[in-house]
Amino acid sequence: MKISRRKFLKMGLMAGAGLALPLGTLSIPLSRLAASASVRSPSMEPFEVPLPIPPILKPVRTDADADYYEMAQKAGRQEILPGLETEVWGYEGIFPGPTIEARSGRRVVIRQWNELPVPVSTHLHGGVTSPESDGYPTDLILPKGHGYGSSAHAEHSSVGGHSHFFKDYHYPNEQRGATLWYHDHRMDFTGPQVYRGLAGLYLLRDEVEDALSLPGGEKEVPLVIADRTFNEDGSLYYPSLDPSLKGEPGTLAPAINGMFGDTILVNGAPWPQMEVSSTRYRFRILNASNARFYDLALDPPPPGGKPFMQVGSDGGLLEAPVAHDRILASPAERFDVVVDFSRYRVGQEVTLKNLEGEGRTRDVMRFVVARREKEESTVPERLAPELDFPSPDEAEATRRFQFIAGGGWGGMSTINFRVFDPDRVDARPRLGSIEVWDFHSDQDHPIHLHLVHFKVISRNGGRPAPWDVGWKDTVLMRAGDDVRIAAHFSGHRGKYVFHCHNLEHEDMMMMANFEVI
Ligand code: C2O
Ligand code: CU
Repeated sequence: MKISRRKFLKMGLMAGAGLALPLGTLSIPLSRLAASASVRSPSMEPFEVPLPIPPILKPVRTDADADYYEMAQKAGRQEILPGLETEVWGYEGIFPGPTIEARSGRRVVIRQWNELPVPVSTHLHGGVTSPESDGYPTDLILPKGHGYGSSAHAEHSSVGGHSHFFKDYHYPNEQRGATLWYHDHRMDFTGPQVYRGLAGLYLLRDEVEDALSLPGGEKEVPLVIADRTFNEDGSLYYPSLDPSLKGEPGTLAPAINGMFGDTILVNGAPWPQMEVSSTRYRFRILNASNARFYDLALDPPPPGGKPFMQVGSDGGLLEAPVAHDRILASPAERFDVVVDFSRYRVGQEVTLKNLEGEGRTRDVMRFVVARREKEESTVPERLAPELDFPSPDEAEATRRFQFIAGGGWGGMSTINFRVFDPDRVDARPRLGSIEVWDFHSDQDHPIHLHLVHFKVISRNGGRPAPWDVGWKDTVLMRAGDDVRIAAHFSGHRGKYVFHCHNLEHEDMMMMANFEVI
């Protein structure tokens, strides 16, 4: 039986737990379940396409305190699989979108033009942004001449106005340097719209980073990792109920618990290859996948010492580097890591693996140590001045949120047994206050808060995991996990969302509002 989402909402909030009986705790990661699905995409040899680097967007204008950009969200054609063309929906018509380079303390204004046939909303993930510029799911930029307004979306016009054709987003950048990203956030359709390509990087730099001599220039490399499945003709496969993305939201069964692709793209290229010299490289890793978690490792591991030196997290530089054998990255998380290729011999091939993948999704990309070169960078023992993490002892409130994935009832997913309602506010932290939030998860859920960065205080009653280090805005949750975070609600008053960043769960309503008062 399928209940329409609208009807479901009309039935009221989940009528208590009775209606929302969880499927039961799954003990295997979702990606394993999904991996049993057969490979659909045209076959190709991995490690043949060179790693592309997304272009840096130039401002159209600058003045004393701000840089002004314009971007058109539109369809474009891109050769992703060798010899085939794929239609993408991208910022400037490309996937990933162009990278914005911003400076801490200097404002950025981006005019987003909507040249797509559907509404969009653009969110700067990790940005400390006023509610008007945060890309609230119903704060839509409507498409030109497509007669929106009478559809289901009208029900959700309670926050922000609908802008026609374009909207100016204001980013104050009054926050520390960090790897941010921007992506679509349209109510009910974020999954398919990001999947078609609406995502890009926003690198915020600051003086603390300038003062270090981390690998830079060509040795500072973004790695935007995203899985996709393709049809025989090269078009993207995504099982939307309505592929025009204009009518009924939602997906067919194969993607109801998250869309898992069978092809791993890095910066938009399938299993690419990159030549490196025998020196250190800084990789800004973003898991831009809709649903897939990656357990990243290097094969072979370097002799003597751990492969990854993490220097930054979602919210910027760590106080001190942390060495990892593996990095577990859930959707939307960023890991800023240094890899020292001098530990390999020239000619060696080093594969970035996803230990959690199956078959082809076990590979991500390959590095080839092509030449010897003198080292010019360093990774100092001290990266950033002491980080002022919120102390849970000073919390004004403790709240508990349970994340339960759907399965029945039209696939609706819930937070505390309630589906998203733009008009309901589930938490009202006071501006400037610290709060502790306790999360419980029935399955894999990466949980993201807009506006704030937080500190992971504990995981399953014990210490946080090694990859929970630093300022976070998204925290990885596995089936049955209990995670406690402390956040400082500062920056702006207003209504913001928090949600699961498995974008299919998000579209299936695993989202709620908090309002900073
Ligand atoms: Cu990266 Cu609310 O999103
Ligand atoms: Cu989820």
